[in-house]
Amino acid sequence: MNYRHSYHAGNFADVLKHALQWVCLSYLRQKEKPFWLLDTHAGIGMYDLLGEQATKTGEWQEGIARILAAEQVPASIQGYVETIQALNDDASLRWYPGSPYLAAAQLRAQDQLVLCELHPEDAQSLLENVQQGFPQRGQIKVETQRNGYAALKALTPPPIKRGMVLIDPPFEQPDEFAQIVRALAEGTRRWANGTYVVWYPIKDPLAIGEFHQQVADLPQVDKAFAVDLLVRAPVDAKKMNGCGMLFVNPPYGVLQQLNPLLDFLLPHLAQDRGAEWQGRWLVGEQA
Ligand SMILES: C[S@@+](CC[C@H](N)C(=O)[O-])C[C@H]1O[C@@H](n2cnc3c(N)ncnc32)[C@H](O)[C@@H]1O
Repeated sequence: MNYRHSYHAGNFADVLKHALQWVCLSYLRQKEKPFWLLDTHAGIGMYDLLGEQATKTGEWQEGIARILAAEQVPASIQGYVETIQALNDDASLRWYPGSPYLAAAQLRAQDQLVLCELHPEDAQSLLENVQQGFPQRGQIKVETQRNGYAALKALTPPPIKRGMVLIDPPFEQPDEFAQIVRALAEGTRRWANGTYVVWYPIKDPLAIGEFHQQVADLPQVDKAFAVDLLVRAPVDAKKMNGCGMLFVNPPYGVLQQLNPLLDFLLPHLAQDRGAEWQGRWLVGEQA
């Protein structure tokens, strides 16, 4: 396991993922009923953008820095932006929250959050970060050195029947897409009504079609939707030219927010004129 998210924190991929995570949890918060959230690949939860690793790549400059410099952001991600601003001084950007912190910021007293992180050092950092100052830490369970895919199998169906699983792997393994499809098959068999949200990188956009089809073909998956964002024309298929989010059982209220949100993100995250986004049903609704 060589991947360390600190090199990439706050980049365009984090912005897409975290903006959509924010919108999903905002939707779950609309009802008083509690929700349960499993973050299978949690990372360390808080990143120092002025630290050695983030400085080496500077990826956040083309990601969250551009969003914070925008004059106005869509109402659906106002809370995401305000959460980041609250962690930083007015004048500078240093701290960027990972998916666990952003989820914690949206938890209410009745909700539960489970975090899995397999890397021993990152798992320890996550635990310390949660203990040192995450909101609602009484409702957060950190599963240190736990395989997120195994946890998905072991922890579903959850005690609270409303909720979401966020799957955000590092894609170091050549069979990562296959592992995700297996995890979704297992998860939806055990907990058919849960929402599953998967982040994936896009190098060659055509290669993503097979993954989409495999998810659409799963027996328990009746509704799946994908949003793909290319930040540049995919002329070099060795580079990460964009990324996508796949939703199984997407909440309708979330899909309603997509157009204005992606129309805002696209010009802010674009790296050349080939940038584009598209959303489409893979199965169900208008597929
Ligand atoms: C892309 S990063 C996660 C970033 C985080 N979700 C965020 O948005 O802030 C992927 C993380 O998964 C961890 N990891 C890799 N394989 C794992 C597995 N099978 N189970 C749990 N964690 C894993 C890596 O150590 C890494 O910290």
